[in-house]
Amino acid sequence: MGRPVLRTPLCELLGIEYPIVLAGMGSRGKATPAELVAAVSAAGGLGVIGGSGLPPEELRAVIRHVRKLTNKPIGVDLLLPAKLAEAPPTRSAVRAELQQKFPEHHAFMRRLMQQYALPDAVVENDMVVSAATGKGGKTLHEQQVAVVLSEDVQVFAAGLGDPSWVVPMARARGVRVMGLAGNLRNAQRQVKAGVDIVVSQGYEAGGHTGSIANFALIPQVVDAVDPIPVVAGGGIADGRGVAAALALGAIGAWVGTAFLVADECQIPERSKNEIVRGGSEDFAISRVYTGKTMRAYKNEVIDAWNKSGLQPLPMPYQKILMDDFNEAAAQVERWDLRSNPGGQIAALVTATAPAQAIFDALLASTIETLDRLSSVVRSR
Ligand SMILES: Cc1cc2nc3c(=O)[nH]c(=O)nc-3n(C[C@H](O)[C@H](O)[C@H](O)COP(=O)(O)O)c2cc1C
Repeated sequence: MGRPVLRTPLCELLGIEYPIVLAGMGSRGKATPAELVAAVSAAGGLGVIGGSGLPPEELRAVIRHVRKLTNKPIGVDLLLPAKLAEAPPTRSAVRAELQQKFPEHHAFMRRLMQQYALPDAVVENDMVVSAATGKGGKTLHEQQVAVVLSEDVQVFAAGLGDPSWVVPMARARGVRVMGLAGNLRNAQRQVKAGVDIVVSQGYEAGGHTGSIANFALIPQVVDAVDPIPVVAGGGIADGRGVAAALALGAIGAWVGTAFLVADECQIPERSKNEIVRGGSEDFAISRVYTGKTMRAYKNEVIDAWNKSGLQPLPMPYQKILMDDFNEAAAQVERWDLRSNPGGQIAALVTATAPAQAIFDALLASTIETLDRLSSVVRSR
């Protein structure tokens, strides 16, 4: 039997065989390591590196590693700032300021450290985090984008933030740009920025997410950004989800949580187990870890935050505060205390498997669903 055929305009646009994309997931390189990205691209989809937590040269190394494994198209996703608070330029400077300016938040984090007897730890890379200039007079984001555009990468995806300054440079190099949006305002902003594809990311998604579920969001975004094509992200873990996304007007699927349980994914086993065992209600939205609404597995840190009555700090303060906490928890393998982002569709994800098998099952069940649907239509 030949290879199955499932083609949408996304395949032409990105030079891929199937309209299924591994969502960029930036867990300091662990969620979308080179092996996972390469496996999805080699399977005929588009593997996307979640590059947001990676210093520029580490990002370059991951891209080159993927390139050793496959010559198929790949993408890189970065979280660009829409606006950063007037923060000092480096992690260590932000840290110093946190203690002085936000003592209650600092105390919240220290109390947790004591409660769980976590060792003192700080995220070591002292990369430039704010709009202030770093190496070569460039911000972190400019440096990351420069790496992406100087390597063999076919797609740039902008998670949060405004990619308008990237688009002309990407276009000049033939790199396609995708922009994520959780509501109409952001979808229109992405179009204004000049993206080639809008990713409609629903409330059910894992990671940073908005407040509108995809059943309502996708058709609105499709109508609002027409003729710019839309890819659906959030709540897709089998072919019924892919087919539903296509029915709602999307031309492809952006899949995160379902690939977190791939053998190639390097998040801790405990985190994979939480996804395999967890139901939809186990993945809740909290702002404790980054300051922005993020869906992750419920844990005691989220509970403590909810009880604290504190308001989240603006970017990048809350994230830098809790990055150090996450680092401390990781050092003693308290994965239960670290953030484990995942989506409501985790309920459908019930076993780990090689990425190729996850991809093939998604593809086969999409074709099966579309066949089933077409068989209910008859002409009289
Ligand atoms: C562990 C994790 C990390 C994520 N990191 C990023 C990121 O760095 N950039 C981004 O644009 N989206 C990020 N997301 C969101 C995904 O790109 C995607 O929109 C989401 O996973 C889709 O929903 P699903 O999880 O239901 O498949 C992350 C999601 C998860 C689960």
